[in-house]
Amino acid sequence: MIICGHRGLANKAPENTLSGLIAAHAAGLSWVEIDVQLSQDQEVVLFHDQRLGRCTDGSGALRQHTWAELQQLDAGSWFSEQFKNERLPLLSEYLTKACELNIQVNIELKLYPKDDIRQLCVQVSQVLAALFSQGKVGANQLLFSSFEPAALCHLQQLIPEVPRALLVEQIPKDWQAQLQQLGCEALHCAHTALTPARAAAIIEAGYRVSCYTVNKQSRADQLASLGVHMIFSDKPLKVALPCEQQGPS
Ligand code: G3P
Ligand code: MG
Repeated sequence: MIICGHRGLANKAPENTLSGLIAAHAAGLSWVEIDVQLSQDQEVVLFHDQRLGRCTDGSGALRQHTWAELQQLDAGSWFSEQFKNERLPLLSEYLTKACELNIQVNIELKLYPKDDIRQLCVQVSQVLAALFSQGKVGANQLLFSSFEPAALCHLQQLIPEVPRALLVEQIPKDWQAQLQQLGCEALHCAHTALTPARAAAIIEAGYRVSCYTVNKQSRADQLASLGVHMIFSDKPLKVALPCEQQGPS
């Protein structure tokens, strides 16, 4: 089972920052998960919340600020003095650094009400196409996910070579039909929503199942025994079982 640093490695460094990526690397993780959104002027920026207040010294909605404005914000002091003047990263600089560090990245497209779903997908695809053509990043180092099925549908059309996962909090009854329709390889769900029977059914149907947000080693161990492919954790938990021992028994 893979331990994927959630929002970088949110317990060790401010979320969705380059320091978080470096913390994940220092902790020996091979995967991180990040959230991306669009600035007012269509730059793809790492950020989780709709509004700037919790994780920066700014205020108001992120999408109402230009990249020039967002670049000025301190995105680290809220976490600790040690990260004072940390900047919000662009997707392009973050992925370039991740690939230098040999870290794979789950890009979650974070969409809030009234966000332009297609526009975010187009801009993300353009950033990736440029990185691919420069040889800086490969599609096999990435995974898309979103709670918004329409985003996965756009990505399937725009940049099909990057694999996709459907994000859900609760597992819907028609999970298999949705995964098939969206061409997803995996279902990502809240760990509290996963029962042993549901895990077995998803794996049996040929899909991966991954769970967020798991911060207890004992729960990570349980999920590994159910055959869960990856967990998202704020902490550098230990891999519970070697890969060859995974799967329901
Ligand atoms: O991608 C897993 C997890 O990050 C989804 O929830 O709110 O932390 O983005 P959230
Ligand atoms: Mg996320």
